[in-house]
Amino acid sequence: MIWLAGNRGMLGSAVEGRMKEEGFDYIVSDAEVDITDKFAVENFIRGKNITWIINAAAYTDVDGAETEKEKSFAVNAEAVRNLAEMANNNGASLVHISTDYVFDGEKETGYCEDDEPRPLNVYGASKLKGEMYVRDIMEKYFVIRTAWLYGENGKNFVDTMLKLMNGRDELKVVSDQFGSPTYAGDLADVILKIVKRDAREYGIYHFTNGGVCSWFDFATEIYRLGKKCGAIKKEVGITPTSSGEFPRPAKRPKFSVLSKEKIKRNFGVEPPDWRISLEKYICLRKT
Ligand SMILES: NC(=O)c1ccc[n+]([C@@H]2O[C@H](COP(=O)([O-])OP(=O)(O)OC[C@H]3O[C@@H](n4cnc5c(N)ncnc54)[C@H](OP(=O)(O)O)[C@@H]3O)[C@@H](O)[C@H]2O)c1
Repeated sequence: MIWLAGNRGMLGSAVEGRMKEEGFDYIVSDAEVDITDKFAVENFIRGKNITWIINAAAYTDVDGAETEKEKSFAVNAEAVRNLAEMANNNGASLVHISTDYVFDGEKETGYCEDDEPRPLNVYGASKLKGEMYVRDIMEKYFVIRTAWLYGENGKNFVDTMLKLMNGRDELKVVSDQFGSPTYAGDLADVILKIVKRDAREYGIYHFTNGGVCSWFDFATEIYRLGKKCGAIKKEVGITPTSSGEFPRPAKRPKFSVLSKEKIKRNFGVEPPDWRISLEKYICLRKT
């Protein structure tokens, strides 16, 4: 049986949706089973034959983490240690999700799994600590680093842009940070491919959608598709700006593109180009 932690989050709800459709044997939890509380976690899984744990729960407020350091480390690191120990005690495998923000963004080509992490902000440091617990405690793990996620059930850049573009005449968007947008549904497919196969090629993996863009490019494409598919009904001027002109509490890496060669090689995964997934998200959305 699979235990999905964080099923009400953006990624978790995509994973649960697919498990439901495909008839997986699974249980879910979210904030009501506080994963920072070892006893709550033990209680929850007592008597259940858990073979895989998928951890989509996290503290994901990148700017908030700068002032809520303790909470960020509790959920992204200490709780992950609980899950890793729990997985070990039950002979289960773990899929844990991490982030491109473990890197400093100084590289000019895609980061590989064994490149040296050097987080620039508290969120990235807390996620890195979580990864380290997993690697130190267990063998049967998959840590999947992803980036710039958007999906149906969660606060994300695409929905924020669509809303702003329907209200404002002008928008400024940062053009000096580069990455790869990733549709949560595409990542959910990869996670379940690993679980379904009962994979044993343990380790750290990178997965994002294909291609590279800046937030400005991303916003421009959201606008183009929004207009094309009727999700944006008015004209908006989008202007590129620099991170310096748009200061935020947490520093972001300027280039956090992840190389996906390892996941392609080991699992035959072909990440869809970010524009293709974005078009499906904006144009084929049911709501
Ligand atoms: N979003 C991105 O752009 C992005 C980029 C790279 C990597 N990631 C990683 O991808 C994963 C999924 O992200 P997401 O955006 O889907 O996250 P999300 O929407 O914020 O969902 C996280 C879920 O975890 C729950 N949670 C928080 N603290 C918990 C606790 N102590 N016990 C149990 N559940 C708890 C949250 O509940 P509440 O809402 O009630 O707190 C929420 O439902 C995370 O590991 C994240 O670090 C995300």
